[in-house]
Amino acid sequence: MMRFLRKIYYFIPFELRNLIRLIFAIPNDIKYIFARKKNLVPPKRLRNIGKGDFLEIGNKFFNHIIENTKINPKTKVLEIGCGCGRISAPFTKFLEKPGRYTGFDILPSPIKWCKKNYSEYEIFEFDYYPIKNDLYNPYGKISAAEFKFPYPENTFDLIISISVFTHMQKNETENYFSQIPKLLKTSGILYASFFILSNKQKSDFFPYDNGDILLHNKIVPSANVAYRLDYIEKLAVINGLKISKIEEGWWKFGKKIENFIDFQDILIFEKQ
Ligand SMILES: C[S@@+](CC[C@H](N)C(=O)[O-])C[C@H]1O[C@@H](n2cnc3c(N)ncnc32)[C@H](O)[C@@H]1O
Repeated sequence: MMRFLRKIYYFIPFELRNLIRLIFAIPNDIKYIFARKKNLVPPKRLRNIGKGDFLEIGNKFFNHIIENTKINPKTKVLEIGCGCGRISAPFTKFLEKPGRYTGFDILPSPIKWCKKNYSEYEIFEFDYYPIKNDLYNPYGKISAAEFKFPYPENTFDLIISISVFTHMQKNETENYFSQIPKLLKTSGILYASFFILSNKQKSDFFPYDNGDILLHNKIVPSANVAYRLDYIEKLAVINGLKISKIEEGWWKFGKKIENFIDFQDILIFEKQ
C-alpha cells in the first residue's frame, strides 16, 4: 500500500506535490504561530525532512559528530544542503571565533529563514545557489554536475552533508566529491549520509538498479538514491579521501531501531 501511494506521489507534478506538502504542514504551522519558544526551529512548511523532533535529531547528529571527529569550538564547518538548519542549530552552542559555520542550499526560502533567525550568531552564514534537483528544485538554473563550490581551498576542518547525496545522481555526486577534498584542510573530515548497498545486495525500496547507483523511482530519479559500497569507496580513494567509519542506518531493517543514529547510513571520510 505504502509503495503504491509513493508511486502515485512521485507521478504527481512538482507544483502539486509541493502544494500537498504545504497543506499537510498547515495544522503544525498554526500551532507554530502561537508557540512561545521557537529556538531555531523553523515552521513545518520550510522543512524538507522526514518525521521526528527537529532539535532532538539535530542534537543526535551533533553528539555523534563530536564523538567521532576531533572537532573543537574553533573548527570551520561547511554544510552542504543545510536546509533550514536542523544540523546547524546545536553548533550555535559550540562554535566560537575563529570557528565558523557556513551552510548552503538550493532552496531560497529555508536559507532566507536561516539568515533571519541566525542573525545574532555572527560566525554563522547561509548561502543560496539555484542548483537544479528534480525532487526539490526542478527549475534550478545551475547543474549540480557542474556547480563549482565558491569557497576557498584548504578552509574547512569538517564538511557535513545529511540526506543530500541520497537525492543526487552519479555525475552530480562525482562533481561534489571532486571538490570536497580540496576544500578540506589536511586530515579534514567529510561526515555524510547515504543509502549504502553492498555489491549485488538487493532492496525493494530501490528497484531500479543502474549499476553503481540504484533508484527508488524512475519519474523522479532523485527522490531517493542508493549507492554501491565499492563505488563510494573507489570515489573516495580517487579523490584523496578514505572511509574511516560506517554507521549503519535502520532503513534496511524496515523499522526504527532506537539506538541507531539515523534512518540513513552515515559515512565518515578523512582527507588523506
Ligand atoms: C532531506 S533535506 C536535508 C536537509 C538537511 N541536510 C537536514 O538534514 O536537515 C535535503 C536537502 O538537500 C538540498 N539539496 C538537494 N540537492 C542539493 C545539491 N545538489 N546541493 C546542495 N543541496 C542540495 C535540498 O534543497 C534539501 O534542503
